[in-house]
Amino acid sequence: MQRIAVVPGSFDPVTRGHLDVIERAAGLYDELHVVVVHNPDKNALLPIAQRVSLIEQSIEEAGIAGRVVVASWSMGLLVDYCTDVGATVLVKGIRSQVDVAYETPMAIVNRHLAGVETVFLLPDPANAHVSSSLVRQVSALGGDVTPYVPPAVADFLAGARIP
Ligand code: PNS
Repeated sequence: MQRIAVVPGSFDPVTRGHLDVIERAAGLYDELHVVVVHNPDKNALLPIAQRVSLIEQSIEEAGIAGRVVVASWSMGLLVDYCTDVGATVLVKGIRSQVDVAYETPMAIVNRHLAGVETVFLLPDPANAHVSSSLVRQVSALGGDVTPYVPPAVADFLAGARIP
């Protein structure tokens, strides 16, 4: 049986922490979908299509593009996307007890809704402090985000790839 997993998130923008989880999850499952979901609880910086494009460029740079599907989902429950593509697992990165508290109710609800299990991966310690909100703040104030994001995102945020 094909084991299909989904890494969901806002990815606003994708960080080195996200990419670490994506690369490791791609090694654990037969097929991996990275799905950009609008989170109404957060003020978005980038349009969804731009976030998808930056993930596509980042996984290309990382050499895993052939094994990962990048998509967005705005049609309802995340588990409906999982059902549509035959995914039985959600993969999330857990950096701290704050993440555990945030993710636990969602994991329970997603299992109740559709039997979709959630697997938590611990980040590489080098990325444990990295978040998209930190990246947005440092970038907005003119700081160097190169250590925190894939090269494609650093270039984009520096203005080199603004269409
Ligand atoms: O990167 P984020 O913002 O922490 O990701 C949160 C996200 C998008 C994964 C979460 O908000 C989500 O799963 N949204 C989908 C809506 C949904 O299915 N809600 C009900 C079950 S939790």
